Amino acid sequence: MNVMLLMIFLITLVISIFYISGKARADSGVLTLYFSWSRNSENIAENVQANTGEAAIKIEPVVAYPLDYNKCLEKAKTELKGNARPEVINDPSVFDGYDKVILIVPNWWSCIPMPVVTLLENGNLTGKSFYLICTHGGGGISKVKSYVSSLLEKKGAKLIESMNVTGDGGWKLPGDIEAWLRKNSLF
Ligand SMILES: Cc1cc2nc3c(=O)[nH]c(=O)nc-3n(C[C@H](O)[C@H](O)[C@H](O)COP(=O)(O)O)c2cc1C
Repeated sequence: MNVMLLMIFLITLVISIFYISGKARADSGVLTLYFSWSRNSENIAENVQANTGEAAIKIEPVVAYPLDYNKCLEKAKTELKGNARPEVINDPSVFDGYDKVILIVPNWWSCIPMPVVTLLENGNLTGKSFYLICTHGGGGISKVKSYVSSLLEKKGAKLIESMNVTGDGGWKLPGDIEAWLRKNSLF
């Protein structure tokens, strides 16, 4: 009888250890999530992924933005003014299993592209830590940072650190990215 009880105890212990360690692993990943129209942010995402070795997922609107720059500007402005939530092809479950998210976005009209907002609002972000990289054409990160920060706060997540990159970041980009990731213990 005692042997039987001991066996049951050991089996329960082994199952618990597997469950707990599996869960810890599943919740400890670093997800790279990015939006890019003219490839600057995409290039950064590739640099980030080369360091983290984890998933890098592109946020894609169902209806693509026009290839023509001025038309893209116009569409983005209309969406921002109307506080639109353009549909995205990405499933909101994309955040599940990650506790850290590196979000890489361009500055669009001193804000972020509205499809990014759609995905962030639809996902379960509770308790997650965000690291923001914003690429811009001279307007900087300031307003983008406060917009993202307040959106995340409403979703129970937190913006921990941010970095801004002008244009394509130039030849120093890979070193800058690696140093920033290292400073934030992201790989
Ligand atoms: C629709 C649109 C709006 C933009 N608005 C701004 C802006 O308000 N301020 C700024 O500094 N750059 C602005 N830019 C420039 C982009 O932020 C910059 O080129 C960025 O690096 C592009 O990233 P991507 O190549 O990943 O799309 C805008 C670009 C586009 C296409």
